[in-house]
Amino acid sequence: MSNNSFTYDVIIIGSGAAGLGLALSLPEHLDIAILAKLSMSEGSTNYAQGGISAVLDELDSLDSHQKDTIKSGAGLCHEDIVELVVSKGKTSIDWLLEHNVQFSTHNNTRSKNKLHLSKEGGHSHRRVVHANDSTGKAVQSALSDQVLARPSIKIFEHHNVIDLVTSQTNNNGKKYISGCYVLDTKKDAIISMKAPCVTLATGGASKVYLYTSNPDVSTGDGIAMAWRAGCRVANMEFMQFHPTCLYHPQAKSFLISEAVRGEGGLLLLPDGTRFMPNFDKRAELAPRDVVARAIDHEMKRLGISSVYLDMSHRTAKFTKSHFPMLYQRCLEFGFDMTKEPLPVVPAAHYTCGGVMANKNGLTDIAGLYAIGETAFTGLHGANRMASNSILECLVFAKQASTDIAKFLQNPPTSPSIKAWDDSLVINSDEAIVVSHNWAELRRFMWDYVGIVRTTKRLERAKHRINLLKEEIDEYYGKFHVTSDFLELRNLVNTAELIVNSALLRKESRGLHYTLDYPSLDQKNFQKDTILTP
Ligand code: FAD
Ligand code: SIN
Repeated sequence: MSNNSFTYDVIIIGSGAAGLGLALSLPEHLDIAILAKLSMSEGSTNYAQGGISAVLDELDSLDSHQKDTIKSGAGLCHEDIVELVVSKGKTSIDWLLEHNVQFSTHNNTRSKNKLHLSKEGGHSHRRVVHANDSTGKAVQSALSDQVLARPSIKIFEHHNVIDLVTSQTNNNGKKYISGCYVLDTKKDAIISMKAPCVTLATGGASKVYLYTSNPDVSTGDGIAMAWRAGCRVANMEFMQFHPTCLYHPQAKSFLISEAVRGEGGLLLLPDGTRFMPNFDKRAELAPRDVVARAIDHEMKRLGISSVYLDMSHRTAKFTKSHFPMLYQRCLEFGFDMTKEPLPVVPAAHYTCGGVMANKNGLTDIAGLYAIGETAFTGLHGANRMASNSILECLVFAKQASTDIAKFLQNPPTSPSIKAWDDSLVINSDEAIVVSHNWAELRRFMWDYVGIVRTTKRLERAKHRINLLKEEIDEYYGKFHVTSDFLELRNLVNTAELIVNSALLRKESRGLHYTLDYPSLDQKNFQKDTILTP
């Protein structure tokens, strides 16, 4: 392996809505590096379906969006952050339109060219701006085009960040970021990158579970790296399971958007009976935690492998025009959603907790920012409301850009980064250990730390995590790092944070449900779970 080094004003780790949003909002004179683990488009952003919430309808109000977010968040949303994010809904949509994102509009003469708004769980109004059922692709490709056109932004695809590098400067004992070590996976070379400002925009950690709607890059890298570097992490017990992913051996938990239920989709048992009204008066449009738990309950009660999502009562024309991508993909898997119900199951979807960041995205380390799904800002509380995530990415990208520009007017001087030393390690002849441990971790996290938990199962998971950690430390000390190994290390770190947080919350709230403490405990637990390294 060779050793190169590069210096930038700002390093952005991640090329989804958060990373690209930040790059495009920073002053153009700054030298910026954007790193992506695989290709630039490979992140959750690209797969987002439903849309982006914003108050645009005259019958809707900011107050209503805030109330819905807070209600979905089951008592843990930070109200100042909710107010900040919701108040920037329209500005964020306008910013995307200025950056050439094409959203769906009405095509009737009365409302021609007005943005079409859809509805999802927890929202009491139509307020989800979308590009048919492929909103993420529209956002990802428009922002990528803009970033590629900026000469001051350099993109590094297939670069996997290994760890952050910090230093203590200015004699005040405070930690400053100074850069990161990166594995160039195409060249199998490790480079060091130096910058006074680094932003984690690395997305979520849902790959820690066996079944997930997320792409392969969602391995909690930003959370694990920030934790190892000394940042606090919060609310990791609140992992969100999306209620409806296609149940099909080849579909790899392909998501069926909540917008389908927003347009009348009904959840059915195999005998055709509707069950959601028995669980919540909002029925299919209850928040995700409620719907996913109800499905899990029915599947366990009846010993069935899926429930069904039915749109066949809507006209084929309506379904095909509102959900063209879903219709097509389901056909490829052998299901015609205009004629028959789709078999669906819940799968891990969103990480509500993450690296603690303030209203500007700043973490506990000077110059280190965390934005998007990897961050914990207080917006989502114990359960994120649908379509609030991309909005959060954009709002915090903007907030962070202003703060970073100020910070860089007087940046700290930090020592140069030591070259990566791998003189004492060899190539592994045991790649099987990594793949075996990956599979084991994701399986027991699904079985023991899923939708319904118990203390005993959490402790069982903790015990296994400790064994995996020992093996990982041993491997790290002996062998050259590979991408799979780095991801496994991050997943195990993240799993430990999830389990430790879940063990601390001795109540059931939002996405954390445990049979040992099935009720809400406002007196003792109306607070965030904050872990300090
Ligand atoms: P991502 O878009 O996930 O990007 C992460 C980036 O970090 C990638 O570029 C990746 O390569 C990079 N990265 C990670 N680790 C490293 C590393 N070690 N080194 C280098 N680079 C790294 N939310 C909504 O609001 N509305 C929706 O309709 C919606 N639908 C969704 C549908 C699906 C199927 C999924 C999976 C999610 C959906 N979400 C939706 C959630 C939302 O898409 C994500 O929360 C959001 O896009 C996250 O954006 P991000 O920029 O934080 O991260
Ligand atoms: C969906 O389309 O159901 C996903 C929306 C989200 O996760 O916000």
